Amino acid sequence: MCMDVMRSARASYSQRNCTKLGHIPGEYGIPVIGKTKGIITDPYGLFKEYYEKYGPVSRISLTLSKGVLALGPEITKEILLDKQQNFSTHMGYKFALGELFAGGLLMRDFSEHKFHRRIMQTAFKNDALRGYIDTMNGVLQDQATQWQTDREFLMYPVLKNMTLTIAARVFIGSDMGDQTNQIINAFVKMLDSVTSIVRLDLPGTLYHRGMKARRFLTKYFINLTAQKRQQQGTDMMSYLCRERDENDAYFSDETIAEHLIFLMLAAHDTTTSALINSLYLLAAYPHWQTKLREELNTLDSHYLSYDQLDTLPLLENVFKETTRLFPPAINFMRRTVRECELGGYTIPANTVVTVSPAFTQRMEEYWADPLAFDPERFAPPREEHKQHPFAWFPFGGGAHKCIGLHFANMLYKCILFNILRQYKLSLPAGYTEPTDNSNMSWVPLPKPKDDLPLILHPIH
Ligand code: HEM
Repeated sequence: MCMDVMRSARASYSQRNCTKLGHIPGEYGIPVIGKTKGIITDPYGLFKEYYEKYGPVSRISLTLSKGVLALGPEITKEILLDKQQNFSTHMGYKFALGELFAGGLLMRDFSEHKFHRRIMQTAFKNDALRGYIDTMNGVLQDQATQWQTDREFLMYPVLKNMTLTIAARVFIGSDMGDQTNQIINAFVKMLDSVTSIVRLDLPGTLYHRGMKARRFLTKYFINLTAQKRQQQGTDMMSYLCRERDENDAYFSDETIAEHLIFLMLAAHDTTTSALINSLYLLAAYPHWQTKLREELNTLDSHYLSYDQLDTLPLLENVFKETTRLFPPAINFMRRTVRECELGGYTIPANTVVTVSPAFTQRMEEYWADPLAFDPERFAPPREEHKQHPFAWFPFGGGAHKCIGLHFANMLYKCILFNILRQYKLSLPAGYTEPTDNSNMSWVPLPKPKDDLPLILHPIH
């Protein structure tokens, strides 16, 4: 069965996207561009309009391709759990991630994906996470203490640098030496080129700079694998290098490079998005900031230990509420490998399907006053997220559910704890509220448009 599924998936990889979707209600919008502008400026508004007009399944044209939009928790569940193995992530993300992040876990399907995911799992287990937190706190110690407090301070660039530095240290360990900046710069170039429209690896293009950076990183990782296999390192790369499959074989050097490059992408922009949006919300709604700081002050340290991570319920709920309102991955992409049925409609083979937490996590049917920032909605007795397993799903679900979700939760908590223990945060006078969509940039990941200038008040 598994081999058959992989064979039919591979056969589908060479086919073009299916656009014969006239039997499904919906509209494509402006030729070529379709509804892409809506997804950049206000995905919730766009998808709400579609849901109200056409229901949970509709046809739409987004980011230069026609396909199907799937909204609401029931349809989401069907697609993400994918019991019939109808949906390929490889083909769903091919345009967005393509060659740049080829070979990453999300770019693999079905039995092949399962095999790789199982081997990678060790690097995400409790013992490994326990080791990573010391590395995270070590980087934090060097960074968050010297921020400007006499004028507006732009938060996004420093947060991005912080999560990148932490991710590089945790993933590669201290072996980077003098090359730390070169490695970080290569990642930045790759991430920048994700948004390039012209996807040709030709000198002078943004995409070429990204691909060149990928070649540099691949070579760097391949050169390091032999050494990592010999040592007992506790960085993520060491775990990946030492794990063996059922035939006692290691991942190949190239495979390790592919996984690490994708992990870096998956880990750092997503967590930065959750952090920047939390800072925005907490600065805008100071009563929540005060309440959260009171909780954090029950611990007597500037750094969180692994055992303290689950002792702060409001911090957990602020994380949940931020990723509900502003899910770092606003859409998930799939493509059908064969004809199937969704919400009563026949979906042809090779159809691109978009699933959106940015809409479903704000549905009035599940969330009280859905646009309001209210972390207590996750606390007992309300627990609004428990009404449906796919009402809140910022980390996805099913076979491709985020493998780094505990890592992300840990990184987010360590950084937010550290910042809130040192500074009170406020917005510049007259600054727009986060619930007013006009100040949000949604693509590639949600964040305030102007990188969030904050006023920091040191706490002595
Ligand atoms: C707040 C932070 C994060 C969010 C919101 C997030 C979200 C997601 C989502 C939604 C998916 C599934 C996408 C889909 O089904 O199409 C995913 C997959 C993945 N994430 Fe995360 N992620 C975060 C942080 C991380 C971190 C820190 C790591 C690694 C250390 C990571 C590694 C991965 C990997 C490897 C996959 C692919 C899993 C697979 O295909 O089996 N993510 N993430």
